[in-house]
Amino acid sequence: MLSAIQIAIDGYSSTGKSTLAKALAKALGFLYVDSGAMYRAVTLYLIRHNITVERVEDVLDEIEVDFDDAHRIRLNGEVVDQDIREMEVSELVSEVAKVAAVRRKLVEQQQRFKQSVVMDGRDIGTVVFPSASLKLFMTASPEVRAQRRYDELIQQQKSVTLDQVRSNLKMRDYEDEHRAVDPLKKADDAYLLDNSSLSPDEQLQWVLDILRDKLAITA
Ligand code: CDP
Repeated sequence: MLSAIQIAIDGYSSTGKSTLAKALAKALGFLYVDSGAMYRAVTLYLIRHNITVERVEDVLDEIEVDFDDAHRIRLNGEVVDQDIREMEVSELVSEVAKVAAVRRKLVEQQQRFKQSVVMDGRDIGTVVFPSASLKLFMTASPEVRAQRRYDELIQQQKSVTLDQVRSNLKMRDYEDEHRAVDPLKKADDAYLLDNSSLSPDEQLQWVLDILRDKLAITA
């Protein structure tokens, strides 16, 4: 049997990691896993139960996060793919993602995916799959990122201002890069992709070219 292929996509907030990861998984017939959704689901649990981040370790055993057959994130069996995108969750998630016990639980779960997978997050190429076949590190200008996320949230009828989105992205990037455990950083062997002026199709093509030329993997 051929061994499974892992593609790790890390990078700053709202750089289009999930758009690229989904398209890539579809083109290659791989599983797509949104690791950020898992951190968001744990955060949603705390908000719903009025539990402070300091107490998250005490309740970790009560929190079960997984994906349904349609790849939608579930919290204790309930599909929460809409609720985890609320600003309230975005405001707290990087605090929750700093907690070592939370990371341990979710990283272990992420490492249990044994099939070929495209996974996006902050520590996939550095911690979750350090031997991934392909690692990408995504960035884009802060203005482009804020506008893209704002448009996305408005489309989902969320009530939010561009300023709120801009400051949330800045705050999360800072927290993610400066935390003690598994901080956001580019793996030495990751390809850097700045997609400020690339369309979704162009960035997909850029990655498919690398896969074909360097790894002889064709979609
Ligand atoms: O907003 P965006 O889609 O860029 O973020 P996300 O992928 O939904 O991740 C939300 C937050 O979860 C990040 O800002 C990190 O604080 C945390 N996270 C993490 O620490 N490690 C991961 N592998 C994925 C997300």
